[in-house]
Amino acid sequence: MNLVLLGPPGAGKGTQAEKLIKEFQIPHISTGDMLREAIKNRTELGAQAEKYMTAGELVPDEVVIGIVAERLMQSDATGGFLLDGFPRPVPQARALDQFLQENGKALTAVVNIEVDPQILIARLSGRRVCGTCGAVYHVETKQAKEPGICDLCQGELIHRADDHEETVKNRLAVYSEQTEPLIQYYRESGLLLQVNGEKSIDEVYREIIQELRNRVDP
Ligand code: AP5
Ligand code: MG
Ligand code: ZN
Repeated sequence: MNLVLLGPPGAGKGTQAEKLIKEFQIPHISTGDMLREAIKNRTELGAQAEKYMTAGELVPDEVVIGIVAERLMQSDATGGFLLDGFPRPVPQARALDQFLQENGKALTAVVNIEVDPQILIARLSGRRVCGTCGAVYHVETKQAKEPGICDLCQGELIHRADDHEETVKNRLAVYSEQTEPLIQYYRESGLLLQVNGEKSIDEVYREIIQELRNRVDP
């Protein structure tokens, strides 16, 4: 299963990815998580990415394409992968197509999670993430068992630096301008599966699984 999760900030890509990777036993490749990890570890990559991420802008394509290509070459991704947050602008989608073709692979499906912008703002302002493993929570809709502590690894839950109101607005604008065109791109290549992301986390998950089953075994 070679999957891409598409959708605006707060659509639930990370939330659904946590469940899908368990179901299909594939690695979760989130460019946002990789870049945040690089910033935390003060690497060269982190230094390149930080100013863009803090402003809610996209990190330059050449940087991001390089780290994804490297990650997809690792042995755990040979049997399948789930990309979350990549590709974003059309040139990244073209680069991914070319990379997969050169390596004798192809995408199974691109799942687009649709959610109204008003709902996205509420989700992002209440989101908390584990600073250690990246697991996703929400102060109202997905609370940790012990407040402020990750259920999975006991790490501390934090408010992402780009989840403040002004940055969220810019991230949504950047999504409309630069990432939304991918919906048409993948519709044309016949890979697009549309899912209503406004239902509960479990309902959205069931819809994704159903759509994937119809695709793989119609
Ligand atoms: P990235 O980390 O990818 O952020 P994003 O795309 O803005 O998406 P989010 O992680 O904010 O949302 P999500 O869809 O994962 O939602 P989640 O599951 O957490 O990218 C961050 C930055 O990195 C970018 O701005 C850019 O600078 C850079 N970057 C990354 N990739 C790049 C690339 N390819 N090229 C260039 N730059 C790149 O859910 C949100 C909240 O809602 C949570 O609290 C959750 O509990 C809750 N929730 C989820 N589902 C539901 C539901 N069904 N009902 C109720 N609540 C729900
Ligand atoms: Mg995410
Ligand atoms: Zn954790």
